[in-house]
Amino acid sequence: MSNLDSYRAKKDHIRENLNKYTIKAYKSLSEIENPRILDVGCGTGVPTVELARISGGNITALDDNENSLNMLKAKIKAWELDKKVTVLNDSIFTMDVPDESFDIIWAEGSVFVMGFENSIKNWRRFLKSDGFLVIHDDSKDKDKKLELVKKHGYRLIDEFELSHQVWSDEYYKPLEQLIKTFKDKQPDDQNLINELNKDQIEIDQSFSSVMASSLIIIIQKT
Ligand SMILES: C[S@@+](CC[C@H](N)C(=O)[O-])C[C@H]1O[C@@H](n2cnc3c(N)ncnc32)[C@H](O)[C@@H]1O
Repeated sequence: MSNLDSYRAKKDHIRENLNKYTIKAYKSLSEIENPRILDVGCGTGVPTVELARISGGNITALDDNENSLNMLKAKIKAWELDKKVTVLNDSIFTMDVPDESFDIIWAEGSVFVMGFENSIKNWRRFLKSDGFLVIHDDSKDKDKKLELVKKHGYRLIDEFELSHQVWSDEYYKPLEQLIKTFKDKQPDDQNLINELNKDQIEIDQSFSSVMASSLIIIIQKT
């Protein structure tokens, strides 16, 4: 395994610290037997694998980043999830999935691509009747977002925030430590250093505001 792959795998483990919030959101849905779930912008599939584990359903995991999807494919193989998780290399802008085919659409960190309003408006047609949409997004403009829920044909089931402190303790601080460890150990691996620098910039930008926090919204198609 390259240094870069080893770093990415360890970074994924840190992302798993936030899985407890994925589980909390999933528990607020009414029980669905073997749900069909669309994970939009699944990335390396940290929430995807957790959802497969807790739902027992079938998941379509969509992203357009081949590196991330390759990491997810390796996990699917390792966890023998090939009958449960289908990987779709597709763009959020052109999602080629049938209408009214999913019980749940899951979107952690991906509504920024089209924006909150466009996402909930466009994705509604992919949901079966009474289907759920779970969004993990920036907590900015929370009231405005909650107002849009009804306007676009959903009802609010639940919402909760992940505070700045949670992000700091459970994600950013451990990630900063990981970046430092890899920088100290592998200062000459330019591929790795480029990615470490990119991730450090992301951390610095996220923490430029002391109010950095996120919001999980669970809504149901009406
Ligand atoms: C912040 S990551 C979230 C990954 C994962 N859902 C998680 O919570 O760990 C956002 C993901 O959206 C994907 N993405 C961005 N633009 C996209 C697009 N136009 N089509 C498909 N995926 C896209 C990125 O590749 C990335 O994996």
